[in-house]
Amino acid sequence: MENKNKIDAIIEKYKGKKGATIPLLQDLQAIGGFLSRETMIYASEHTGIKIADMYGVATFYSMFRLKPQGRHIIRVCKGTACHVSGAETIFHAVQSHLKLNELDDTTDDGKYTLVEVACLGCCSLAPVIMIDEDTHGKLTPDSVGKILDRYE
Ligand code: FES
Repeated sequence: MENKNKIDAIIEKYKGKKGATIPLLQDLQAIGGFLSRETMIYASEHTGIKIADMYGVATFYSMFRLKPQGRHIIRVCKGTACHVSGAETIFHAVQSHLKLNELDDTTDDGKYTLVEVACLGCCSLAPVIMIDEDTHGKLTPDSVGKILDRYE
């Protein structure tokens, strides 16, 4: 197992402590950016926290990831200015273009991760998305697909 020493140190830190599931998962996720199935099973076996409980927490809170993050992060703003300018339509256009279903935020090829954000600080360009550090505004469902196609 990759990073076994780090994982063992985290397990040791939380072993036997009540209410440790969330901080345990946060620390485990900090190692590689997501919680692998293998890591959660190993942590469950060595902490006594039931795997069902661990998985329930990991899937309930949006701060936890069960897959690696994509190479490009797409932030779709759903703040007020973007909302009234069609942010929901843009979000669905991105999902559709990337063939993402409602439950997945990362494409199968690991290229993109899609996230919602509250405001990107450039409301006059609504509706707005950011791809990595690039801001794209005044979007339409057609233009957003063309923008996504520019990224390798
Ligand atoms: S509400 Fe979208 S950038 Fe501010």
